[in-house]
Amino acid sequence: MSVARFFDEMSYGPAPEADAEARQWLARNNGAFGHFIDGAFVVAASGKTFDSFEPATGALLAKVALGGSEDVNAAVAAARKAQGPWAKLPGHARARHLYALARMIQRHARLIAVVEALDNGKPIRETRDIDIPLAARHFYHHAGWAQLQETEFADHVPVGVVGQVIPWNFPFLMLAWKVAPALALGNTVILKPAEFTPLTALLFAELASAAGLPPGVLNVVTGEGETGALIVEHEDIDKIAFTGSTEVGRLIREKTAGSGKSLTLELGGKSPFIVFDDADIDAAVEGVVDAIWFNQGQVCCAGSRLLVQEGVAPLFHERLKRRMATLRVGQPLDKAIDMAAIVAPVQLQRIETLVAKGVSEGASMHQPRIELPKGGSFYPPTLLTDVQPTSVVATEEIFGPVAVSMTFRTPEEAIQLANHSRYGLAASVWSETIGLALHVAAKLAAGVVWVNATNLFDASSGFGGKRESGFGREGGKEGCYEYLKPKAWLGRKLRLEPVQPALKPVAGDFGLPALDRTAKLFIGGKQARPDGNYSRPILSHKGKPVGEVGEGNRKDIRNAVVAARAASAWGSATAHNRAQILYYLAENLSARAAEFADRIVAMTGASTASAKAEVEASIARLFSYGAWADKYEGTVHQPPLRGVALAMPEPQGVVGVICPPEAPLLGFISLVAPLIAVGNRVIAVPSEPHPLAATDFYSVLETSDVPAGVVNIVTGSAMELAKTLAAHNDVDALWACGSSELSTLVEKLSTGNLKRTFVDYGKAIDWMDRSAAEGPAFLRRAVDVKNIWIPYGE
Ligand code: NAI
Repeated sequence: MSVARFFDEMSYGPAPEADAEARQWLARNNGAFGHFIDGAFVVAASGKTFDSFEPATGALLAKVALGGSEDVNAAVAAARKAQGPWAKLPGHARARHLYALARMIQRHARLIAVVEALDNGKPIRETRDIDIPLAARHFYHHAGWAQLQETEFADHVPVGVVGQVIPWNFPFLMLAWKVAPALALGNTVILKPAEFTPLTALLFAELASAAGLPPGVLNVVTGEGETGALIVEHEDIDKIAFTGSTEVGRLIREKTAGSGKSLTLELGGKSPFIVFDDADIDAAVEGVVDAIWFNQGQVCCAGSRLLVQEGVAPLFHERLKRRMATLRVGQPLDKAIDMAAIVAPVQLQRIETLVAKGVSEGASMHQPRIELPKGGSFYPPTLLTDVQPTSVVATEEIFGPVAVSMTFRTPEEAIQLANHSRYGLAASVWSETIGLALHVAAKLAAGVVWVNATNLFDASSGFGGKRESGFGREGGKEGCYEYLKPKAWLGRKLRLEPVQPALKPVAGDFGLPALDRTAKLFIGGKQARPDGNYSRPILSHKGKPVGEVGEGNRKDIRNAVVAARAASAWGSATAHNRAQILYYLAENLSARAAEFADRIVAMTGASTASAKAEVEASIARLFSYGAWADKYEGTVHQPPLRGVALAMPEPQGVVGVICPPEAPLLGFISLVAPLIAVGNRVIAVPSEPHPLAATDFYSVLETSDVPAGVVNIVTGSAMELAKTLAAHNDVDALWACGSSELSTLVEKLSTGNLKRTFVDYGKAIDWMDRSAAEGPAFLRRAVDVKNIWIPYGE
C-alpha cells in the first residue's frame, strides 16, 4: 500500500481533550454557582436557580443563580461604589490590573477552553486556538489603552457604571470584548452572560478575584432575558452594551429611550460572501468553511449568503460539496472534529424550521452523508442553492451551519445583491484582482469587509455594523470612545422652557411672489413651497412678527429624504472638494455677516455684539470643518495576522438634524457642518422659535456650489418633524437638540431601522465654546468606521 493511499483510507479515531480538571471545577460547588457581586460569590436573593446543560449530550452541567431585582440592585450598588476609586487610579495602575487579567487567562487557558466547549458545545479546537487567545489579546491590548489613557483620551472621562448583556455564541470572547475596554478606561461593570452559557464568565470572575481586581469593579449576575431587562432598565446604570439578536436590541433601544444611558448594540447579520470568477477557488472554498461552519454557523458575522459569479458557480459548488463531505461533526472535546453541537434544542429547531422553509420555497438542499453523534443537538453542514434573493433563507439570520448560495453576473449586480439586506455587519470578497476587490469593498454596506479572507478579528480593529446590525464599535480606538464621554459636555444645564408660546400655523397665500415674505423650504437645492400650504408666523422676543416660514409636514420630509438620497455622490466626492465648499460657505456667509447679525438681533433680542459674535463663530466653525474635512482620516491597523485592516470613516448617509432652539445660526452650523464635512447629506429642521437665520442661509447655500440635495431645510414644528424623521426608514441617523421629550421621542421612534441617534436630553451645549461644540466628538458621531482587512506582506 502506498503512503498516499494509506493516508487517504486511514479513518479518524477520536482525540479527546481531557476534561477531568473542568469537571472538578464544576463539582467544586456541588455544581451550583452564585452571582459574583462586590468581590464575592453569592446565591440569588430569591434562592432561585436555572440549569445549564451540555449541548453535546443534553446532560445537566450546573445550576446557576437566577438574577432578580435584588441581585441586580446589589451589583449596581457595588459597581457604583467602586467606580469613583477605580476611575481615579492612575492609568498605569489599571493597566497592570488588565495585564494581570490577560496573564491569568493565558495561565488558565486550558481550563477555560474546556469549560467553554462543554458549556457551549463548540469544538475545543476553536475555544483553544481562537476564543481564548483572542480574549487574552483583548486584555493585553486594552491594558495598553489604560496605560495611555491620560494622554490619548485626555479630554474624556469614563462613562461610569456599565451594564453588559452578552450572547451565548462566544461566551468568553464576548466577555473580553465588553469587559476589557470598559475596565481599561475607568468604568465598572455588571455583566450578564447568556442563560445557555454562564459558566466561563463565573470562572473569569474567580480568576479576576484571584488576580486582585478590586471588589465591585466587575460583577457578574447570571440569569435569563428578564435579568437582562432588569439591568437595561436600572436607573443607576450609565451605559448599556449589548450583543445579541436584533429583536432584543430593538427592545433595548426602546426601553432606554430618553434615559440618558449611552448604548451600543452589536446585533445580527446576513453577511455576503462574494466569489468572483477570478478568485482562487480553492481558497474561497476553504473560506466558506471558516465563514459558515466555524462555530456551527452561530456567528453574527457568518458569511451565510454566498454570492458566486455565474461562470464559476458550477465548479465552485462542486468543490464546495466535495469539501463538505470531508467535514467531521463530533463531540466538542474531540480535537479532530470540525463542527460540534448547536447550543440548545430550541436553536436546533429554529435551524430545522428555517431550512424546511427554504426547501419549501424551492431551494435545493445539499448535506453531505456524514454521521452525526447521537444524543445532544447536532446539525450537519448544509448548502442551499437555487435560492431566491427575497426568500426567507436569504434574508433571515439562520444562525446555524447553513450557507445559502445565489449567483450574479456583474460586479454591480454583486454589490446590489450584497446590499439587499436589512443588516450590514460584515462581508467577504474573493478576487485575485485587487482593483475589483477594493472597488467592491468600498461599496458594501458593512461594518467589516474581509478581502480574500473571512472571520478575522483583533482587539486593535473595530468591529460592529451598519443598519439593523446595530451601532457602536468594539475594539480599536473607536471602541474605546464608546466607554468615554467628552469632559467638555459635563455640567451642562437643562434648557429653560422656550419663552415664546407655540404658535399655530395659519393658512397662507403663496400665490404672489412680489409680496410673499414667507420663506419657503429648501429641498433638492431649490426653494420649495410647503406641501400643506401653511405657514407659521415668527415673532421677535417682544412678540412682534418678524417674518413667516413654511410649515413643513410629513410629505415635505419625504421629499427631502428623496432629494438627500439622490445626492449620494457627495459621500464619494473627494474630501478636498468638500473642504473647498465648506470654506466657500464661510466666505459667502462672511460677506453677509452684518445682515445675519441683524436678523439674530431681531429674532432673539440678543445684543448686537453677541449676535455678531455668533455670526463670526459660525464662519469660524465652517472653516474648522473645512479644515477637518480632509484631515479626519482613517487608520491602518496592523493586527497580529498576515494583513492589515484599513479603518475608514464612512458617512452614515442621510441624516436628520433637529437644531437647538437657541443660537439660531451657530446651532444650525455646528450640527450640519460636521455631518456634511464627512460626506453625509442632511435634512435640517432649524430652530423652531428662530428659524429665519437658517432660511436666510438658503441663498448662501445656493451661491456656494453645495450640490443639490446635500443640505435640505424644512421649517416647522421640531417635535412633529422629528417624529417623521425618526420613523422614516430611509433616514440613517438623527441628531436632535431641544427638550428632553424630544430626545425621548427620537430614541423611541428610531427603532424601525435602528438609526444612529445623537441627542442632548434637553441639556444645551455652549455653542460658543469650541472645546464643547466642535471637533472630533461631532465627527466621530457623523461616521461609521468600516474595517477593511486586506492581505499584506509575507
Ligand atoms: P437574545 O438576543 O435573546 O439573547 C442575547 C442576550 O440577551 C442573552 O444574555 C439574553 O439573556 C439577553 N436578553 C434576552 N432578552 C432580553 C431583554 N429583554 N433585555 C435584556 N436582555 C435580554 O438571543 P437568543 O434568544 O439567545 O437567540 C435568538 C437568536 O438571536 C439567534 O437565533 C440568533 O439569530 C440571534 N443571536 C444573534 C447573536 C449575535 O451575536 N448577533 C447572538 C445570539 C443570538
